[in-house]
Amino acid sequence: FSVASTFDFAQNLFPLSSTTGAGYAPLGAPTASHPNGGLGGGSLEKHKTLTYMNGLSLIVGLIIGSGIFSSPSQVNVNAGSPGASLIIWVVAGILAWTGAASYAELGGAIPLNGGAQVYLSKIFGELAGFLFTWSAVLVLKPGSAAIIAIIMGEYLVRAFIGAEAETIDPWVNRGVALVGIVLVTLVNCVSTRLGTRVNDALMFLKFIALIGVTVIGIVVAATGFTFSGEANLDWKKHEWFEGTKLDASAWAVALYAGLWAFDGWDNTNYVVGEFRNPSRDLPRVIHTAMPLVIVCYILANMAYFFVLPLATINSTNTVAVMFGSKVFGPIGAVIFALIVSASCFGALNSSTFTSSRLVYVAGKEGYFPAIFGRIGTGSEQQASLSTTRTRSWFTKKLASAFGDEDMGLFFTPIPALVLNAILTAGYVLVGEFGTLLTFYGVAGYTFYFVTVLGLIVLRVKEPTLERPYKTWITTPIIFCCVSLFLLSRAVFAQPLQTLIVIGFVVAGVPVYFLRIRGRGQAVKRERGDGGSRPWWKFWASRRG
Ligand code: ARG
Repeated sequence: FSVASTFDFAQNLFPLSSTTGAGYAPLGAPTASHPNGGLGGGSLEKHKTLTYMNGLSLIVGLIIGSGIFSSPSQVNVNAGSPGASLIIWVVAGILAWTGAASYAELGGAIPLNGGAQVYLSKIFGELAGFLFTWSAVLVLKPGSAAIIAIIMGEYLVRAFIGAEAETIDPWVNRGVALVGIVLVTLVNCVSTRLGTRVNDALMFLKFIALIGVTVIGIVVAATGFTFSGEANLDWKKHEWFEGTKLDASAWAVALYAGLWAFDGWDNTNYVVGEFRNPSRDLPRVIHTAMPLVIVCYILANMAYFFVLPLATINSTNTVAVMFGSKVFGPIGAVIFALIVSASCFGALNSSTFTSSRLVYVAGKEGYFPAIFGRIGTGSEQQASLSTTRTRSWFTKKLASAFGDEDMGLFFTPIPALVLNAILTAGYVLVGEFGTLLTFYGVAGYTFYFVTVLGLIVLRVKEPTLERPYKTWITTPIIFCCVSLFLLSRAVFAQPLQTLIVIGFVVAGVPVYFLRIRGRGQAVKRERGDGGSRPWWKFWASRRG
């Protein structure tokens, strides 16, 4: 522990500008460190620790979670034929890629933590950014984490009860999901590095699983071998497009299912501020991760078709377990169930990491109570004291084992992590899987759509803004058109859900004005001009 790094550390915790308080700086106003307009500037962002590889494992780890192992049946049933469902997978992948490329441009131009919150604030005003944060923190993030946790629970329980068992008490699944949530929250509270290492390890496992599935598929296809004599897809015969549905609504449902598997592509944007070299690495991460995932998914789906009869794929939501049991027997089912639950655990872990950053920024920004913008359990000063002075030999060893010797253990946004865990657990307990998924699709794609539209608006409004990375203008246009199609379908198919989504977002408007008013008063209090005076006294003093 060198003197120089202690000094840096202290500098970071007691920045010279600390009296302005990052949370009170007007959003979108240029600051010295963020010429394109700033928010955040919390101490997490001063530790520029993330590299290209960290970004890659973060995003790939989040994207490859539950979807590729469980949504194929939904895609198939709604597309109607293997060929059509492969097309759906390609379309979903490319759509996600165009979205991610658009976000990469925004992230390069506005290299701050917080993702869509920062972009929307800058482009459409702070209310838009607030409404995003409001929805993301309270519903989108914990809701999607709950879905992943539930799938994780289901697979883990299957690993022990058996693939064929039909009757599993949903409360058992939920119990396992809750344990998973507590576990990832603990990991992320203890150490940022520990969290990223868990990710890296699980990412390799996922790749090995997907490559394994693909290789088995290729061998089966090449040798014409069939398991237990059942007929599966013969790629030489022309039955690829038999039964294709010609129904736009069914295609939209299939596309939603595919998009769930590709979802998470915006997550590096939440932590852009922590990258060492964001303008170079963010686009590189996106343009490696997306094609990689698309190719993996297409190959895995083809392998499912080669090995399993269509009827089996269509009727199960645990297709990977079926695959394992077909190829390796009961033991294979157990192994695949374990792999998928580990994959979901990894996605849950990445999701927790990025959500906590979003909540943290919201706390710093004054959108949420200030406690959520804290590092560690106390104030940042306390956190620094406990890490620099009172570290025991054991905690030092532990911290250096995780690679955290500069920051120490518990230098994490603990209150934010706890809030996220409580909300996620709540959705696991009361949420119904299908409802969660539709809600997530509608609300999530509304914000994706508005944000990417914002990219186009920003190009018009500020043509000279420095953009280290620029996509073709067709990219955001394609994304906007397809997501508008998806949203319009959802509005007609699920009017009630759509209304609930709208109601929830609108409910954020009064909250915004309350919070902003509170924030203004806090600034006045700090200046000592009595900002905390209630409004009736204010008016009384003006009148008389
Ligand atoms: N693609 C992931 C999966 O297949 C889901 C990601 C959910 N999105 C999120 N931001 N947590 O499980």
